Amino acid sequence: MTIREVIQHSTRFLEGKGVESPRLQGEHLLAHVLGLPRLQLYLNIDRPLTEAEISTTRALVQRRGRREPLQHILGTANFAGLELKVTPDVLIPRPETELLAEQAANFLKSLAGRQPPEVLAATPLRMLDIGTGSGCLPIYVTHRLAECEAWTVDVSEAAIAIARENAGRHGVAERIHFVSGDAFAALDPELRFDLIVSNPPYIPAEEIATLDPEVRDHDPRLALDGGPDGLDFYRRIVREAGNWLQPGGKLMLELGHDQAAAVHALCEGQMWIVEAVLPDYSRIPRILIARRG
Ligand SMILES: C[S@@+](CC[C@H](N)C(=O)[O-])C[C@H]1O[C@@H](n2cnc3c(N)ncnc32)[C@H](O)[C@@H]1O
Repeated sequence: MTIREVIQHSTRFLEGKGVESPRLQGEHLLAHVLGLPRLQLYLNIDRPLTEAEISTTRALVQRRGRREPLQHILGTANFAGLELKVTPDVLIPRPETELLAEQAANFLKSLAGRQPPEVLAATPLRMLDIGTGSGCLPIYVTHRLAECEAWTVDVSEAAIAIARENAGRHGVAERIHFVSGDAFAALDPELRFDLIVSNPPYIPAEEIATLDPEVRDHDPRLALDGGPDGLDFYRRIVREAGNWLQPGGKLMLELGHDQAAAVHALCEGQMWIVEAVLPDYSRIPRILIARRG
């Protein structure tokens, strides 16, 4: 079989299994097996494959057909241009979270621009991330901003281990403090931050069973379950975050698809001024930015 034929077969197979974007998924798997960038497949489209290449690709396509996420099969996910290791212990970072990462980095960059370099060198800006998962948020921000340190907390020790490894891969481990435990309760009470971010678990518990198999069966439940109405973590964060912010600091939260009004109301009930709720690529209100009133 040639590359073209394998792509055709895998597309048909994955389509039959209800996998979204079946052709693209098959191409990613084949490119992974051949060790080629995906677009190179098209420059070699009539190249015949060896028996070993075909059987390895078949095994991976079958795993994807059983609705195992592509990123688990490849072992990595791309987050805003950074390759991160992912395993079943961490949420696969999502494209909408890249918007939160970008807002966080832009805000800290603007703060950095207002301080003399010698002050920044002595006291770097500080960001806190609640719920680290793969470490995507603090890794992105510290990678973009040399003048920033981050603290990141996760109740899952396995997630902390992956996040630490990812930070090491990208050369920022020394500027990230990994804390294992329950949100704010795990932190040194003396700490204060210029920015607090979180993409918390926000799926209402009963909805988890209705999600796509890739999410329901493969993302960690700890990363999804936001309690009966999905808002448990927002209540906690909105209640507690104000005590941990420096004057002029901000809170930035990723929201579930229908949670903007509810989280906005929670913020206003706890003396926050909501500055913006930004839409994602599908125009869903996704990132809430607030400061202390
Ligand atoms: C939706 S995931 C977000 C992961 C990552 N920040 C991202 O955006 O891809 C939420 C994370 O919160 C963590 N978590 C759940 N309960 C927690 C708690 N009580 N304290 C700290 N982290 C918690 C989960 O283990 C999970 O890694």
